[in-house]
Amino acid sequence: MSADAVRFSDERLTEIAALVKTYPGAQSALMPVLYMAQEDFGYISMEAQKMIAQVLGLRLMQVREVVTFYTMFREQPTGKYLLEVCTNAGCMLNGANELVAHMCETLGIKQGQTTADGLFTVTEVECAGACGGAPVVQVNNVYHEKVTPELMDSLITRVRDGGAA
Ligand code: FES
Repeated sequence: MSADAVRFSDERLTEIAALVKTYPGAQSALMPVLYMAQEDFGYISMEAQKMIAQVLGLRLMQVREVVTFYTMFREQPTGKYLLEVCTNAGCMLNGANELVAHMCETLGIKQGQTTADGLFTVTEVECAGACGGAPVVQVNNVYHEKVTPELMDSLITRVRDGGAA
């Protein structure tokens, strides 16, 4: 994606302007605007972060400190299917680390990498807020709970074959 391509559409800018008015200041609208950028561009590149800072009248550092703090914001492109494994305490105690190792071995990648065919990215995330279902995996934001290696294998096969995430 070239730097020139990283621009919100006019419709999005109108939406952002309306959104900002609902907050005490532009900085308060940063997180929803980051979600918009991720939805529009797939990830939030440095060019996108600069553009967002400009749109909201913020310093780049104010954008960077939010983007880099929260694991749900991505600075790199991902595969078609983003497999996010919670490895926080509750999930870790229920086998999340072993699950990540299994997924990486199955897909032939390391944590944070994307398969050569561009289909799958495996990444660890902080608490997904569904601790009662540990270990939790999100497949493109669809939650799967009490995920075993066998269940993960069948999930991967299903989406690879064009099934629902
Ligand atoms: S610790 Fe995994 S969902 Fe909360």
